[in-house]
Amino acid sequence: MDKVIGILAGSLRKASFSKKIAEAIIEFAPEGYEFKMVSLEDLPIYNQDFDDYNDVPQAIHLFRETMKGISGVIFVTPEYNRSVPGVLKNAIDVGSRPYNKSIWDKKPAAVFSNSPGHLSGFGANHHLRQSLVFLNMPTMQQPEVYLAQIKNDIDENGHLKEGDTKAFLKKAVAAYISWFEKNAV
Ligand SMILES: Cc1cc2nc3c(=O)[nH]c(=O)nc-3n(C[C@H](O)[C@H](O)[C@H](O)COP(=O)(O)O)c2cc1C
Repeated sequence: MDKVIGILAGSLRKASFSKKIAEAIIEFAPEGYEFKMVSLEDLPIYNQDFDDYNDVPQAIHLFRETMKGISGVIFVTPEYNRSVPGVLKNAIDVGSRPYNKSIWDKKPAAVFSNSPGHLSGFGANHHLRQSLVFLNMPTMQQPEVYLAQIKNDIDENGHLKEGDTKAFLKKAVAAYISWFEKNAV
């Protein structure tokens, strides 16, 4: 059976660059792997009462069930105010509870950050890594994936153009698969 890798884009925006990168990555899944885009669209903001009072919204239940079937995660994140966008941090929080039942535990991860400007989402990339350390997700260190000026890499149909960025992403995904194979338990 194929191993399933979740691709989580940290943006809800229709024309999101992060979603376009995520879509491009799906095509790089090697044989024996399925890359599955996991939508964060319907995920409510986490409230600890959901778990404390056994009143978990269906969308959260579904997200947790989907993530249980996933063996590794590639996070594709933009940067909001020098940190992780709330939608992605919320998904991290939702998946981390109930206590001791985190769906993230031990799943090998990679962080690909991007920005339309020159900064490449460096702050978001490293703030996200801070949570992943606590969540016990072995996270690929090299290559680091910082994609600056991503808008120049998207064509008029919304697809990632052929070129250096696409070639680099393909190598980064191959490196992640090799990281996954060494670290998956
Ligand atoms: C609330 C907000 C905060 C932002 N903060 C940053 C930032 O700190 N660094 C940055 O490079 N871009 C920042 N941006 C611009 C985003 O990089 C840009 O909107 C990007 O397209 C969002 O990613 P997406 O295309 O995947 O939706 C911010 C945008 C918003 C809406």
